[in-house]
Amino acid sequence: MPAKQLLQDKERRFQLLFEEHPQPMWVIDPAESKILEANSAAALLYGHTRDQFRGMSLDAVLVSEESGPASGSPRRHRTGSGRIIDVEMAQHLIDFGGHPAELAVLMDVTGRRQLEDQLRQAQKMESVGMLAGGVAHDFNNLLTIISGYSQLILNALEPGNPNYYAAEQILKAGERAAALTKQLLAFSRPRLLQSKVLDLNKVVTGLSTMLRRLIGEDVDLQLVLRPDLGMVSADSGQIEQVLMNLVVNARDAMPKGGRLTIETTNVELDESYSGRHLSVKPGQYVQVAVSDNGGGMDEATQARLFEPFFTTKGAGRGTGLGLSTVFGIVKQSGGNLDVYSVPSRGTSVKVYLPRIDQPAAVEAEYSRRHVASGSETVLLVEDDEMVRHLVRETLVRAGYRVMDTSDPSEARRLSGSYRGVIHLLITDVVMPKVSGRELAGELHGQRGGMKVLYMSGYTDTGIVNTGILQKEVAFLQKPFTPAALTAKVREVLESGGRTRRAGE
Ligand SMILES: Nc1ncnc2c1ncn2[C@@H]1O[C@H](COP(=O)(O)OP(=O)(O)OP(=O)(O)O)[C@@H](O)[C@H]1O
Ligand SMILES: [Mg+2]
Repeated sequence: MPAKQLLQDKERRFQLLFEEHPQPMWVIDPAESKILEANSAAALLYGHTRDQFRGMSLDAVLVSEESGPASGSPRRHRTGSGRIIDVEMAQHLIDFGGHPAELAVLMDVTGRRQLEDQLRQAQKMESVGMLAGGVAHDFNNLLTIISGYSQLILNALEPGNPNYYAAEQILKAGERAAALTKQLLAFSRPRLLQSKVLDLNKVVTGLSTMLRRLIGEDVDLQLVLRPDLGMVSADSGQIEQVLMNLVVNARDAMPKGGRLTIETTNVELDESYSGRHLSVKPGQYVQVAVSDNGGGMDEATQARLFEPFFTTKGAGRGTGLGLSTVFGIVKQSGGNLDVYSVPSRGTSVKVYLPRIDQPAAVEAEYSRRHVASGSETVLLVEDDEMVRHLVRETLVRAGYRVMDTSDPSEARRLSGSYRGVIHLLITDVVMPKVSGRELAGELHGQRGGMKVLYMSGYTDTGIVNTGILQKEVAFLQKPFTPAALTAKVREVLESGGRTRRAGE
């Protein structure tokens, strides 16, 4: 075979390989920083035709970065439609029609980079969450005491008494602090969720009057609720908090008024979605979207949105806990959320919760203010002395007979020697020597008819190993008010049959 033919064959083979290769490739003129040739895979990825590519300056594709990319890390390119992609590029010197050129083999790593970002974000959230959870846990005990005792003082005072106002102010401050602590807890993991089967349309409708008041007259609230919406399993109080935080953010983004839409619908998140989002299982979800046509967010804000204490609002206007709380609640409910935002156009936050196949639960309503009284006998086990005194005091004032101890073995002894009926065991979930659950299990052996009420701040112990409390277990979350305590005690005492033990 003549040498010329061989050369042509080689060129043709190169041409074929270049054009048909599934990996995007360019031939670049390094001196002029121009693209000389592009293959069809590159045309597909960038949305330019091969003709458009020929002679195109590299500056038209490169996204300038302030500090420039670290060596080896992906560069950012702009496609024909303006989409930004992350690209890794391997360059080889070649001879192109007698001129030195570079063959650039391109790899689109946008998806991988997004997953890496999500992982880093998840790790950061996890460590901040642990810190927040620890602090909140201790605060809960203190706040239970502050609010509880001020409530007891208030109950004992006439409204005309000069100390009444003072006690009222302490109670109010305690309640505000408790609300803040609750937000921190919602963000941290693991925690207790009191999940029920919920119809999100009902939650939205139930909250709408309050939301309208919250957003004021200049903002128009529209509800677009899908009639055959699926059910979800979630804590209704927490979901209300999610909605409130999103609605308040939307309102803040529209200081001159605008339109706020809350929309519910059924969606399916497929493999391709779950592939792009960490820890999202493909399947049926119920979506709630809160959208506004306000100021929107730039990229820098969007990148830090879910960080606790990240706020762009001035001092005294935002604490930056809203979206981190939303994030925590949605993640703990097995869901996910997406934020779409365009500066000066608006923002849409989509919350996805896993759809379940059950009718909504009928909820028993308890009046929160009413102090429910009774005369039954209660055995109280709580190692935090101040909390124990408060609970005892509250129950004694409400008419109950109370035996209390900080020590589970003392509780066993009391239960063994007491002659009468013990109607209710109230126990902390986490105690140094033995868990509340173990104690309840043992005492049940001696006293079959005894009901059990667990109390806790936040915990990851066996009673709630999935983070979601079993329905059969009566549970009171700290901090609680005396009214909530007495209401819960009545509820448990009057519940039908014997109280089932956790784990049965
Ligand atoms: N709908 C929205 N439109 C525009 N920006 C938003 C929107 N929602 C959130 N943001 C931005 O995200 C930041 C963080 O929101 P987040 O709710 O966590 O805190 P915050 O609203 O500043 O304070 P807090 O909710 O604790 O009162 C806000 O400061 C704001 O810059
Ligand atoms: Mg907010």
